[in-house]
Amino acid sequence: MKEAIDRLLEELSGLSCKTQKEVEEARVRFLGKKGEITRLFDEFRSFDKDMKREFGSKINALKNAAVAKIEELRSQAGSDDEAGASTQDLSMPGDQFELGSRHPVSIVRQQIVDIFRKVGYEVAEGPEIEDDYHVFEALNFPPNHPARDMQDTFFVSAGHLNPLLLRTHTSSVQVRTMEKMGLPIRVICPGRVFRNEAISARAHCIFHQVEGLYIDKGVTFADLKQAILMFAREMFGPETSIRMRPSYFPFTEPSSEVDVSCNICHGKGCNICKGTGWLEILGCGMVDPNVLKASGIDPNVYSGFAFGMGVERIAMLKWQVNDLRHYFENDIRFLREFSTAVEV
Ligand code: DAH
Repeated sequence: MKEAIDRLLEELSGLSCKTQKEVEEARVRFLGKKGEITRLFDEFRSFDKDMKREFGSKINALKNAAVAKIEELRSQAGSDDEAGASTQDLSMPGDQFELGSRHPVSIVRQQIVDIFRKVGYEVAEGPEIEDDYHVFEALNFPPNHPARDMQDTFFVSAGHLNPLLLRTHTSSVQVRTMEKMGLPIRVICPGRVFRNEAISARAHCIFHQVEGLYIDKGVTFADLKQAILMFAREMFGPETSIRMRPSYFPFTEPSSEVDVSCNICHGKGCNICKGTGWLEILGCGMVDPNVLKASGIDPNVYSGFAFGMGVERIAMLKWQVNDLRHYFENDIRFLREFSTAVEV
């Protein structure tokens, strides 16, 4: 037994293998079911107590040395591609790729766009860095309107007649569309907007809006009402009703703010609708004749309506998220909640 152990230890220490195949052959020779060390263990089992005491630790040391040597050789030997005997197990499961998902704001923006596309609206886009003319002047903002104030607007270049700024609303795309598109116009304009606001649960300096514009002969307030009702029911469910409250925007006359019946309590009053049963979703109105004229459209022949809504606001109402900041922080636990949200 002693000679056998010493001989095997010596053989092991001098062992070298070039390929994984050779390593595997060595493993079988020493440690396989009929390997030399396994055979020694069989012999050892028939020893009496004293003999076992004498050889127990030696034979175990031999086995450990063999296991360690085979491991060492396995990590050193080259791959067997050339030898044609791969030790790779091709049936092992692969590394999992994490599947991404759409951001909730993108999901809702796409839903809004799709609802209007179904009834014939085209998508129009415009620049995020705009000039004062397209954001304010052509939209009938009086020269000293507070929305032009430095407080609300990020200016890119200040000081001259038509300064560049980050658009504060997507209504600027209305103007660009009226300038370049033939009549009638029926567009939906999604985009990112910027306002110089402190970030809070209800406000952010960057957010998204979708603007709608429809201009043709004989468009009336009744058409506007119907378009908004259609949208509200598609977005919040067929039971939804709307309410229009008189409001003011420089670019529409008359103007209105629209509320939908609360989709949580169905009008009974809850903490989401602050007990009123109604949730404000957008601003709208009939395009002011001055706005049509500024873009070369004759208000005596054509009329139209416009509306604008905040995408984050619609998303907050739809999913009862009470803090706008969740949409910007990209916390993976929040985003995962929307990974199964289906699109219309
Ligand atoms: N531009 C407005 C805002 O950012 C939203 C809006 C209101 C757009 C009325 C419209 C409209 O087209 O008719 O607050």
